[in-house]
Amino acid sequence: MKRILVTGGAGFIGSNFLHLLLQGEGDFQVFNLDRLTYAGNLLNLCSVEDDPRYRFIEGDICDQKLVTEIFQSQEIDTVVHFAAESHVDRSIMGPGEFIQTNVVGTFTLLEAARQMWPEGKGRFIHISTDEVYGSLGEIGLFSEATAYDPRSPYSASKASSDHLASAYFHTYGLQVIITNCSNNYGPYQFPEKLIPLIIQNALSGKALPVYGDGMNIRDWLYVEDHAKALLRVLEAGEFGETYNIGGNNERTNLDVVHTICDLLDEMTEPLEAGGNRRDLIQFVKDRPGHDRRYAIDATKIKNELGWDPSVDFAQGIRNTIQWYLDQDEWTKAVLDGSYRDYYSKMYEGR
Ligand code: NAD
Ligand code: DAU
Repeated sequence: MKRILVTGGAGFIGSNFLHLLLQGEGDFQVFNLDRLTYAGNLLNLCSVEDDPRYRFIEGDICDQKLVTEIFQSQEIDTVVHFAAESHVDRSIMGPGEFIQTNVVGTFTLLEAARQMWPEGKGRFIHISTDEVYGSLGEIGLFSEATAYDPRSPYSASKASSDHLASAYFHTYGLQVIITNCSNNYGPYQFPEKLIPLIIQNALSGKALPVYGDGMNIRDWLYVEDHAKALLRVLEAGEFGETYNIGGNNERTNLDVVHTICDLLDEMTEPLEAGGNRRDLIQFVKDRPGHDRRYAIDATKIKNELGWDPSVDFAQGIRNTIQWYLDQDEWTKAVLDGSYRDYYSKMYEGR
C-alpha cells in the first residue's frame, strides 16, 4: 500500500488533486500537510475529509522536526509537493515568505526524503511552474530543454526549488520527478488570481483591473486536467525526468476578461447600474517585470504518458463561472478581512 504525503493539499491545485486521487479506488493512505496560510482552506476538502484513506495534518513544510516525524511515523514512501507561496504580485510586495516556503520548505522535504528512504525507494513529485522559463516572444514554446530564466521573486524561488530537486536526483539518486505547468483555472482558486478575481468583481459590479495593455498571453489549463496529468506522472513518470504540462490554449488577458464578462452577462442578472460587464474594465499600471507570453509544448507527456487536456476553454470557463455562482459559503469565507486588506494594498490608486 502506498503511503503518500501531499503538501499544500488545502490550496487550489492540491485540493483538486486530492479530490481526483480519492475518487479512485486505489489502496493507499494519504496525508495532507498544510500550514493553512491565507490560500489554504479546509472548505476545499469537505467532500474528502471523511474518507478513511485521508488525514489532514496542520503544519509547516519548513518545520524539519515535524516533517521528519511524519516521514517516520507514517512510513511515507511518496511525496506530491504542492505547498508554495504561489502569487506573483505578493512576491513583488514581499519576497521573504517565497524564499522561506518555496526554497527552504522544498529543501526540508527533500532532505527528509533523503534521510528516510533507502536507495532505490520512494518517489518525490515536485510540482512547479512554466514561469521558471521566463518570457516568450511572439513565437516559440517552452519545452523541457528550455533554459531557466525566472524574472519574478516567485518564479526565482520556484526555479531554485526545481534546481534543488534536480540536484537531489543527480547527487543522491533521490527518485525525483519535476512537473512544470502553465496557468491553471477552475474551482477553488483563490480570488487574487486573474480569473476568479475578474469573476468576483464582475459579479458585484466593481472595476475589472487589467494590467498594462492586456495583451500578455497565458496558456490556460483546466485544473482537473492538471490533476489528471499528475496522476499519470505518479503512476508512470520516469525518475530524473521533467514533464511540461500545458493547455495548448493561448489567450491574451483581455480576451479572457471579455469572455468572462460576456458569459456573466448571459448567465446572471443584469448589473444594477445597467450596461454590460465589459464597461467595468479598467487598464491599470502594469506589473513590474511582467512576463509577456507563456506557452507550453506538452509533446513529451502526451507521447510518453498518454496525457492530453480534455476540457476545452469554452467548457472550462463556463464550469468555473457556474462553480463560483454556486459557492456562497466558500466565497464569504474567502473574501474576508485579510482579502480586503490585500485588495486595497494592491489595487487602490493603481
Ligand atoms: P495555492 O496558493 O492555492 O495553495 C498553496 C497551498 O500551500 C495552500 O494550501 C497553503 O496553505 C499551503 N502552504 C503555503 N505555505 C506552506 C507551508 N510553509 N507549509 C505548508 N503548507 C503551506 O497554490 P496553487 O495555485 O494550488 O499552486 C500549487 C502548486 O502548483 C505551487 O507549487 C505552484 O507553484 C504550482 N503551480 C501553480 C499554478 C497555478 O496556475 N496556480 C501553475 C503551475 C504550477
Ligand atoms: O504560469 C503558471 C503560473 O500562473 C503559476 O506558477 C502561478 O502560481 C500562478 O499564479 C499564475 O501566475 P500568473 O502571474 O500568470 O497569474 P495571475 O492570475 O496572477 O495573472 C494572469 C495574468 O493576468 C498576468 O499576465 C497578470 C494579469 N493580471 C492579473 C491580475 C491578478 C491582470 O491583468 N490583472 C489582475 O488583477
